[in-house]
Amino acid sequence: MSQFNFFQFGVPTHIVFGEGVASDFSAELARFAMKRPMLVCDHFLRESGAIGAIRDGLLQSGLHIAGEFFDVAHPASVRIVKELAFEAREQNADSFVVIGGGSVMDVAKAANILLTHGGDLVADYSGAQTIPGPLKPLVAIPTTAGTGSEVTQAAVLYDESQGVKLSFVDDYLRPHLAVLDPLLTLSLPPFLTAATGMDALTHAVEAWTSVQSNPFSDALAKHAIHLVMHHLLPAVIDGDDLDARKGMLTASTMAGVAFDHAMVGVTHAMTHAVEAVAHVHHGTANAILLPWGMTYNRDVCADRYVELASRVGITGKCDVDTIIQQMRQLVVELERKCGLPTRLRDVNVQKDQLPKIASLAAQDGTTVYNPREVDEAEILKLLEQAW
Ligand SMILES: [Fe+2]
Repeated sequence: MSQFNFFQFGVPTHIVFGEGVASDFSAELARFAMKRPMLVCDHFLRESGAIGAIRDGLLQSGLHIAGEFFDVAHPASVRIVKELAFEAREQNADSFVVIGGGSVMDVAKAANILLTHGGDLVADYSGAQTIPGPLKPLVAIPTTAGTGSEVTQAAVLYDESQGVKLSFVDDYLRPHLAVLDPLLTLSLPPFLTAATGMDALTHAVEAWTSVQSNPFSDALAKHAIHLVMHHLLPAVIDGDDLDARKGMLTASTMAGVAFDHAMVGVTHAMTHAVEAVAHVHHGTANAILLPWGMTYNRDVCADRYVELASRVGITGKCDVDTIIQQMRQLVVELERKCGLPTRLRDVNVQKDQLPKIASLAAQDGTTVYNPREVDEAEILKLLEQAW
């Protein structure tokens, strides 16, 4: 685990939180040189009516909406990014306002690279720290409580031409403004609330045990864990529970800042591999694999996990296995309440795919930050248990 002899910390994204704030954040907009934003969301949201209030708020702030782009399908892909960037340039846009979940935000973040600097998205910018200078203003308005993309330096895109997922990681990719409006998350169905919430929890737990953690990321990760353990089940049981929605939205953004600095570990390594091989939803895979990832790190993280006791709701005697069991219990409860899968076989992963998944997981970039060396043979054993 981190010795924090040296670390850096900064949150360049300005964060504003409030009920209904998505329909009026003019005071915050005044901070940025933007006059003609491109409005970006997916089809589902376009039909939800939430966009109307956001559009009106932007117009009342004196902005002119350069264009609206609703063709963001899943997965977020290089092709869609290029289409959005082309459209933004055609419409003479000078900024982006993106409303949606992680995929939609990642599309807009990547399109902003092309709008600002031009060039070839994959050849010039895939990888880490490749963007030559600041990007045009981007406002991110999350409608799920999970990815934390509204504050992170990363975008993940599917490249159709190579059939692979590509990462884009750069300081300049962090949005300028994150608008957190819990009212926008009220309509999220129970299953998606659970899956995205488990993604947030995994970010926080893995940031907490990362070799790159520091006292600042620790504070955020620890509180995010507390918030998820307290609010996720209530948000799944009653989607209109505004307190629970507030807690989850706060948690996901805090976890986002935490892992943006500390990074994630073996659970995400396995999840990325499961996504690539079996096309499983990111949050769902994390929900299945988090207790197993924690089990993998059990011996090297025992003290660190036990430190979380009060945050995960344990008041009495506690050891490392009690903590892991508490996480496993949460997943079981979520299965009962909304059918969230608990095993890899439940999400159409075939047993003969496990060696390939183990191999990809062992090569995943996140393994560098895991507190225990990620061994392919050990991961395969773990995946067989998770199957
Ligand atoms: Fe994640």
